Amino acid sequence: MSDAATMAVHAPSIHHTQPWRWRVSGAELDLYLDRSRAFDVTDPDSRLAILSCGAALHHALVSLAADGWHTVLARMPDPQHPDHLARLRLDRRVPVSLEARRHRQTIGLRHTDRRPTGSTPIDADELTAVVGVVKSAGAGLHILPPDQVLELACAADQAQRAENEDLTWQTEVNYWPGGTRPPGHGIPDAAIPDRATRTTVPGSDFGHHGDLPVSAAHESAATFAILYGPEDGAADWLRAGEALSAVWLTATELGMSVLPLSATIEVAVTRNRLRHLLAGLGHPHLVLRLTTGEPARTAAARTPRRLADQDRSLRMHRISPGHP
Ligand SMILES: Cc1cc2nc3c(=O)[nH]c(=O)nc-3n(C[C@H](O)[C@H](O)[C@H](O)COP(=O)(O)O)c2cc1C
Repeated sequence: MSDAATMAVHAPSIHHTQPWRWRVSGAELDLYLDRSRAFDVTDPDSRLAILSCGAALHHALVSLAADGWHTVLARMPDPQHPDHLARLRLDRRVPVSLEARRHRQTIGLRHTDRRPTGSTPIDADELTAVVGVVKSAGAGLHILPPDQVLELACAADQAQRAENEDLTWQTEVNYWPGGTRPPGHGIPDAAIPDRATRTTVPGSDFGHHGDLPVSAAHESAATFAILYGPEDGAADWLRAGEALSAVWLTATELGMSVLPLSATIEVAVTRNRLRHLLAGLGHPHLVLRLTTGEPARTAAARTPRRLADQDRSLRMHRISPGHP
């Protein structure tokens, strides 16, 4: 069980906050939201933090499946403790599928690439495949047609301006990207573009340029999509996070890059604009930029993780070290 929690540290998270805490106890693994690592101003409902926890949960499930375990999953198992997001229980041994093995390998390869994109649009069959993966994970992925991409670009610009004008937002967010935190926390400068990228939909404004070399290419071949769900509560954000992990692993295997863009979700008025774009399909949880990888492209810098022995929460709560 502790191996699954260790594997889950590779999950993507908002500004690499890794806002989760695991409790390993015998054949059970409990996932909690770590509010001390969530944003009070940017993410007051913790929707993006819970979404990140959902991605970690899916990583843990993949790891257990690749070890040949069928697990029983209870989401939000304790209504009295809403920060207790999930409980996983080992059920029985099952044959390991090729997909589980492949996904576990991909966990170590998946990463966020913020560079301008390749010039080849994504193949229609591959897009259909990733939409199917999201659906199987209990969420939806709406691919934006060109006119809606322009609407998204306006909304992203509006969100970015609203956030830049808010000093409390800036103070909170400036801590995580770049700068000098302990290794394994926040986004390193090596993963932040060294100049403004040429985009239709503005990427995240980290308040400074980093060290990641980027070209002057325009991301005109990118596909933009909205990850959505039927409702807008914690259980839906958790599911959306599981779907994010599932789609990102598959996209990586298909040679695509995925870049989450959360500014329009963080600001209520722009989140509402996205809801209109969904035209009744559901509630928006995250915007994704999907692009083809260039075969000749060098890999983008990786974002280091908290070391296992840095993860106090994992150590403190590991109750039965003898168990899987
Ligand atoms: C819910 C969520 C929202 C995110 N929003 C953004 C974003 O707006 N801009 C961005 O550049 N990266 C965003 N990311 C990517 C994270 O910064 C990234 O996952 C984290 O830094 C760890 O790096 P890795 O994905 O390369 O492992 C987001 C990730 C998640 C899970």
